[in-house]
Amino acid sequence: MNKQILIIGACGQIGTELTLKLREINGNNAVIASDIREGNDELMQSGPFEIVDAMDKNSIEKILDKYAITEVYLMAAMLSATGEKFPAKAWELNMTSLFNVLNFAKEKKIKKMFWPSSIAAFGPTTPKENTPQETIMEPTTVYGISKQAGERWCEYYFNNYGVDVRSVRYPGIISWKTNPGGGTTDYAIEIYNNALLVGKYDSFLNKNTKLPMMYMDDAIDATIKIMDAKPEDVKIRSSYNLAAMSFTPEEIALEIKKFIPDFKISYHEDFRQRIADSWPQSIDDSRAKEDWGWQPKFDLHKMSENMLNSLHKKFENS
Ligand code: SER
Repeated sequence: MNKQILIIGACGQIGTELTLKLREINGNNAVIASDIREGNDELMQSGPFEIVDAMDKNSIEKILDKYAITEVYLMAAMLSATGEKFPAKAWELNMTSLFNVLNFAKEKKIKKMFWPSSIAAFGPTTPKENTPQETIMEPTTVYGISKQAGERWCEYYFNNYGVDVRSVRYPGIISWKTNPGGGTTDYAIEIYNNALLVGKYDSFLNKNTKLPMMYMDDAIDATIKIMDAKPEDVKIRSSYNLAAMSFTPEEIALEIKKFIPDFKISYHEDFRQRIADSWPQSIDDSRAKEDWGWQPKFDLHKMSENMLNSLHKKFENS
């Protein structure tokens, strides 16, 4: 049987680019985008789209039947900063949507699923540098708690029901096509936008806040790679550590200055500082490298060059 893919949360920052890439690989009609709202023109015009609430089991089931879906990528979630404002809602959305898809896989309505975890699943008691795959995890944000619990449930469904679920712990994801929403690592996207538009940026994290980050191209690559891996090579069924680079606001500002010498940065911490301080600074992703051949391509310099060029073109055309 052919692969038929459903992406839930297809209009978000990662969902948009994941959908476009999967359409390029599998053909437009084999990749069904869905979200609670419509997305950008490129996404809407390149293939099938359905409005769906990730918490609404029945609506999702109708789409699974209508398109004979074999795989689901569940990209809908409330992120760390927004989650702290609406804790109950974040928990409800993040867990209900996950259980919906896990249960479809358990009932064999689909064959395989992807669900992202995050560096937010770690907490202040986790070793901060080169954070191991298996370590202390005591997340302090609702988002992080939902990711940690979600990881446990994924492994549980794999062990007890043979559900083929695959997951990675994304670091902060940096991209130019679709804006992120409500994350703590979003500063590293705003900074490029502001550098080009107004030549300065006021950072909501202090200058020494080092966090693990990754360019979107690498994140998409990892996502597709783990989904394409042979089942026996996916040895971890909670979620894999994933890494590409780590930097502070001061370091990214210095990098931007290489391209825009007059760029200025200032720092005014807000509530997101506490969230960032609870997360690791760098990640050991050797298991992903060993098990399914993960390898990032973008470092801070290459990413900055690509981001600034792509955003420049985007602003020129708009
Ligand atoms: N980028 C996410 C956030 O900041 C972390 O997974 O919430």
